[in-house]
Amino acid sequence: MWLFAFFAIGILANTINVTQAFDYKCNLTAKGSPKFPESFSFGVSTAAYQIEGAWNEDGKGESIWDHFTHNFPEMMDDRSNGDVAADSYHRFDQDLAALKELKVTHYRFSISWPRIYPTGDISSKNQKGIDYYNGVIDKLLANGIQPLVTMFHYDLPIEIQKLGGFANPLIINMFVTYAIELFENFGDRVKLWNTFNEPFDYCKPGYADANYPPQVHAPGVADYLCMDHSLKAHAATYRTYRAKFYEKQRGKIGLTLSSRFFFSHTNNAEDISRGMQFNLGFLGHPIWSNTGGYPKAMVETIQSNSLKEGRISSRLPRLDGKWKEIVKGAADFLGLNYYTSRYIRRASKPMGESPSWERDYDSDAYPDETWVRGKPEWLYCVPEGLEGILKYIRDEFGNPEVIITENGWSDDGDPEDDDRIYFIKAHMQAVLNAANDGCNVTGYTVWSLIDNFEWQKGYTHKFGLYAVNMTSPNKERSPRKSAKYYRNVIETKTLPSIV
Ligand SMILES: *[C@@H]1O[C@H](CO)[C@@H](O)[C@H](O)[C@H]1NC(C)=O
Ligand SMILES: *[C@@H]1O[C@H](CO)[C@@H](O)[C@H](O)[C@H]1NC(C)=O
Repeated sequence: MWLFAFFAIGILANTINVTQAFDYKCNLTAKGSPKFPESFSFGVSTAAYQIEGAWNEDGKGESIWDHFTHNFPEMMDDRSNGDVAADSYHRFDQDLAALKELKVTHYRFSISWPRIYPTGDISSKNQKGIDYYNGVIDKLLANGIQPLVTMFHYDLPIEIQKLGGFANPLIINMFVTYAIELFENFGDRVKLWNTFNEPFDYCKPGYADANYPPQVHAPGVADYLCMDHSLKAHAATYRTYRAKFYEKQRGKIGLTLSSRFFFSHTNNAEDISRGMQFNLGFLGHPIWSNTGGYPKAMVETIQSNSLKEGRISSRLPRLDGKWKEIVKGAADFLGLNYYTSRYIRRASKPMGESPSWERDYDSDAYPDETWVRGKPEWLYCVPEGLEGILKYIRDEFGNPEVIITENGWSDDGDPEDDDRIYFIKAHMQAVLNAANDGCNVTGYTVWSLIDNFEWQKGYTHKFGLYAVNMTSPNKERSPRKSAKYYRNVIETKTLPSIV
């Protein structure tokens, strides 16, 4: 019934004026200073596989996303792939022109591991891949734009996958070796590093749900291994940098986590805490909590469920002794990708299959029906959640530096994208409110600079401040209305009213 009503309204809105689908529900009341701090950094984000194209050029190796899109095109809504995408490998200058027009202070992009090491291994080092990113970094710096470089954003070399990918602890040393290559080649100029982008969002669909590569279906087992190995690879990279590179290079290293915030219709603090422990806390607690280690609710539940299932040990890998100490405190900043939130309550029936993260989580997370929804079925505008999660990080994680590494809205691609403007304004207001309330948040990054390959949604969902003409050989980038608004925010360091 509710769904039907939503569609009816949606159709009506489409026929009347789609750009005014909402104009008051997606906002947030201002609290405190209307101005961002002088040192606050404003940026935009992209990722290699989603924009670069040139999938087999200049010695680049095959990644698991190349393999997946080529062999299982039916897994993408439009059967598309990233072979060409926005062609940023050949057209970085067009991206740079957009970055300059926006006047951003930082640009977050990712390096394709198989461009640097085509097989994933050091023996395959590819100078042309290194040259490409040297060009990108130098051009950014020449224009006063700070690079924030993600080392891994889903595109694992296929040869490492053949060894089990993130299910094999070998990944830890292979990743550190790759990271050292990046520090040696780029660390003189790159001062902001992100090791991994959203481990939960490649581990869960890749190793539990089997709808991302490597399409492994081992829920509650392989996804946990993948999370554990990602965390350890991150921490080992951090420790290596501090020991061998920091003295000369003086950069910062963070891990980017995605998370929703949780609300309770019955103000049940325990339900909310469980939601946070199973989401942000999964990898956040080991690094930023006082005690270290995986969060209590996860450790206890997964141990108990595992024994009930007849196993001899927990499906959640152990994080104790040496590793617990290596991981604890292993980050200079927390990269936060925030899109949406949910209400939460303990489940009244078993969730998901057994075993699985859902079964262990044992919670029912659901949207509020008054929230405004975007094009994806999961994306509701909930700026209160961003303010809430920043305060949670302040209070539970010792107020570490936080950079919002992604936040954005997708639609059909209307150039007059008022919905995106409302979303960005409301979420930046959440960041400003949190900063005014003592949260250590130092930067905000819109996903995304340009339209790109949105994983299983292909090119059907548009996240760009700039549209990309995907059918044109020149792949022209053109600013949407939101690009002009964001530039205005950056210029004034305030959140101007929407006109
Ligand atoms: C913000 O984070 C930085 C880096 O972790 C830290 O040095 C600083 O003390 C923090 N500021 C506050 C107000 O906690
Ligand atoms: C995209 O490019 C094609 C080919 O150059 C052109 O015909 C078309 O009008 C362009 N579309 C837009 C929306 O500019």
